[in-house]
Amino acid sequence: MIGIALVCVLFLASANCFASGGHGHKGPKKTGILLVAFGSSEASAQVSFENIDKKTKAAYPGIPVRWAYTSHIIREKLAKQGQHLDSPVVALAKMMDEKFTHVAVQTLHTIGGSEYHDLRRTVGAFKIMGGFEKVILGYPLMATQEDMEKTVAAAISSIPKDRKMDDAVVLMGHGTHHPSNAFYAALMFQLQLKDPNIFVGTVEGYPEIDSIKAMLIEKKIKKAYLIPFMSVAGDHAKNDMASDEEDSWKTILTKAGIQCIPVLKGTAEFDAYVDIWVEHIGGPLGHFE
Ligand code: CO
Repeated sequence: MIGIALVCVLFLASANCFASGGHGHKGPKKTGILLVAFGSSEASAQVSFENIDKKTKAAYPGIPVRWAYTSHIIREKLAKQGQHLDSPVVALAKMMDEKFTHVAVQTLHTIGGSEYHDLRRTVGAFKIMGGFEKVILGYPLMATQEDMEKTVAAAISSIPKDRKMDDAVVLMGHGTHHPSNAFYAALMFQLQLKDPNIFVGTVEGYPEIDSIKAMLIEKKIKKAYLIPFMSVAGDHAKNDMASDEEDSWKTILTKAGIQCIPVLKGTAEFDAYVDIWVEHIGGPLGHFE
C-alpha cells in the first residue's frame, strides 16, 4: 500500500489517474492525528516534541498520534543515530495501510508559508487518492485573527521576568519569500499595541534586522532581549541571533550601543504557544463528527 500511495502522489500532477475512484471504505471509523514538524536533532527540541505529544494525547484522548518530519536532512541525520522518522508522505501512507479512515494533520509551522503549502499539497494528494474518508490539515500557529491575539499573549507571557519595560524584546522570526511573510510585521503591529518595545524581525524575509536596529536607535533603547520566534532554537537562533559572528543580530545591535541578552528557547518550549497548535487540531477533528 505504501508503494501505491507513493506512486499516486508522484503522479498527482497528471491527476486523472485517480478517475477510477477511491480504494473503498468498508472498515470501521478509525481516527488519527499526524503531527508534522520540520524536525530537529537538538536535544531541547526532543523535549518540546515530547511535551507536544503529551499535550495532544491529553486534549484528544484515545486518538492515536503519529509524527512526521519534513526535513530530509534532519531525518538522515537522525537515521544515522538509529532514530527513524517518516516523511509526511510515508507517515500518511502507513496510516492508510493501517486502515485509518479520518486523519487530522497538524503542523508545527509558524505561518502558512512555502513548507506549509508543500504539506497542503501532500495532504491534497491523499485526498484525491481516496484512501481516507477524510484527511484535513490544521492551521499553522498564526492564521486567523484569533490566533494572532493568542500568539501576542503567548509572546508576552514568554518574555523573561527580569525584563524592564524600557528594555526592548526583539523576536527573531524565520521569514520567507512566500506572501505569508506579511504575518511577521502584522504580529509586530499587534504586539506593539500591548507593549511598544516589542519588535519582530526575520532572518530571511521582512522586516530585516537593519530596520529593527533603526527602530531601536530611534527609541533610544539601551538593552534588548533577543528571542527566537521559531519552534526550535536551532542554527538560526544560535548563529544568526546569539553568536559573536560579525553579522549576528547580537553583534549588529551591540555595535549600535545596545546591550543584548539572547534567550535560546524555541516557541515549542512554551506551553502558551503549544496550546495554540494543539487547539488547532480541533479544527480538522470537528469535521470528522
Ligand atoms: Co532557514
